[in-house]
Amino acid sequence: MCGIIGYIGGKKTTDVLLEGLYALEYRGYDSAGVAICDNKDIEIIKSVGRVSLLEEKINKESKIKSNYGIAHTRWATNGEANLTNAHPHKIGKVTLVHNGIIENSDLLKEKLIKEGYKFNSDTDSEVVAALLDKYLKDNDVLKAINLLIKDLKGSYALGIMIDNDNKLYALRKDSPLLLGIGEKENFLASDITAIIKHTNKYILLEPKEIAVLEEDKYEIFKDGNKIEKEVLISDSKGIDNSKNGYSHHMMKEIMEEPIVLKRLIDRFSDEKERKNLDLSNYKEIDIVACGSAMYAGLVGQNLFEEYAGIKTTVYPASEYRYKKKIYNQKTLVILVSQSGETADTIAAMREAIELNVDTLAIVNNPDSTIAREAGKIILTNAGVEIAVATTKAYILQVCVFAMMAFTTGKNKGLIKEDFSLFNEVPNKLKLVLEKQDEYKELAKKIYKKESCFFIGRGIDYALCMEGSLKLKEVSYLHSEAYQAGELKHGTISLVEEGMPVICIISDKELKDKSISNLKETEARGSLGIIVTTEDLDDFDNYLKIVVPSSSKYTDSMLIVPALQLLSYYVALNRGCDIDKPRNLAKSVTVE
Ligand code: F6R
Repeated sequence: MCGIIGYIGGKKTTDVLLEGLYALEYRGYDSAGVAICDNKDIEIIKSVGRVSLLEEKINKESKIKSNYGIAHTRWATNGEANLTNAHPHKIGKVTLVHNGIIENSDLLKEKLIKEGYKFNSDTDSEVVAALLDKYLKDNDVLKAINLLIKDLKGSYALGIMIDNDNKLYALRKDSPLLLGIGEKENFLASDITAIIKHTNKYILLEPKEIAVLEEDKYEIFKDGNKIEKEVLISDSKGIDNSKNGYSHHMMKEIMEEPIVLKRLIDRFSDEKERKNLDLSNYKEIDIVACGSAMYAGLVGQNLFEEYAGIKTTVYPASEYRYKKKIYNQKTLVILVSQSGETADTIAAMREAIELNVDTLAIVNNPDSTIAREAGKIILTNAGVEIAVATTKAYILQVCVFAMMAFTTGKNKGLIKEDFSLFNEVPNKLKLVLEKQDEYKELAKKIYKKESCFFIGRGIDYALCMEGSLKLKEVSYLHSEAYQAGELKHGTISLVEEGMPVICIISDKELKDKSISNLKETEARGSLGIIVTTEDLDDFDNYLKIVVPSSSKYTDSMLIVPALQLLSYYVALNRGCDIDKPRNLAKSVTVE
């Protein structure tokens, strides 16, 4: 989603800003822009599309030598993705970039228009620039920004330059923003990866704090007073943009799954470490997350209820944050997030913390808001994901849930097997990933279809949700996931001649039931496809994907990678932009 970088110092400003924008590209965006200043003039250059286009434009059009500036990648929220709506925006003396959504911008805009302000774009961000410009007429910068903070409703991270002022200003609420501290240079960024090449020292800004950056100093103010803040050190290695010989990041990240999975399992093979996975103290669990992270939670729900004896409910964070919460003394709220910056998941977490309930986050990004604020955390350590569609991080989330359910069930005396059964999963996963030709062949059979279904029961339904999401987000092939037995209660009317219906079967107890449901669709012309484990495979007359048998706790980690590869090849056949699917963002920092 939107990204911000700002720089003040002795290096060539456009180089630093462009590097930062390239590092932020993985978050997803549709336009980009920079504003640079040479202590006199401000030059704004923007482009729709990739940062490389912006770079070409800067090389052609930039005329000034600058020592400070701000830059932005925009993921359209208010107003379509065009040049006018791209950031930075300048009104009067104020130039700014903005992440987030200003909820009262229509009202503010109306008032400002009456006062004579004219707007070019459809953005809420331009309204912020106008409002600050208005306050600057009668106030110094800090007072004006404090007045601005009082007026704004919604979420924002702002990087600001004021004409003839030679400083950078930064402030935020609900959208992340940090201050990077260098030697005779300072930065602001929405994500440490944008500046990690230059410094690993940073300060996190909190709401109502205003950072003022100059080349050789920075100051932070709150409610008009200067404050001191802790300087943190990041051990982020930054973004490794290489594809390691693969043609897409998505493929590279899928192929990394066995290694990162082994690392995670090895970590928890240590009994002391495994204590962190024991949830026997809790009677009820709410799992809260978005998208794939929520679908990993659905796998977790099945495992917790089946093997750890804990009643578990899964909620999309966007619903959870506004629903009435019913907690008992022994409720745990588990947040799941790859980025650790998903706005709805953060808000849900903060609510739970405020209501004094225990929180635990399964999170990939150690420098993220969720990693910092959750009561307890389990880091998945999948490494950075660049492809917008999550793959390796999802598998590790599922693995954490499986290990938690197993450890808790074992401690309660419900499970007899030994934890060492997890050790064989990474090698079996390698076998799944080796069968590329089979996925390619199957992809050829479905890529021209208009629509498809994934069906399954119990835990297999949870896998259907992820399989279906992966397929639609990267290949744009319409797909729905359904509980196999539920299809005939209405939705089966959509089944047409030749429509692929992919039936997932890893649960022995439910195999015959799911097959009956698949047959119901075949009787109406569907193309039945089965995804199953070796021990259950007696499906001679079907198109199928068969993964090695492992255990009822770990089968999910072998089935979903096969579906990820199938989606990849369907997308490839359909000529899609696999790593950056249309309309999607990697880090969803707005509600
Ligand atoms: C799908 C995908 C998204 C994310 C969701 C939550 O491939 O990546 O559905 O899972 O946006 O993001 P995180 O995990 O960063 O909170």
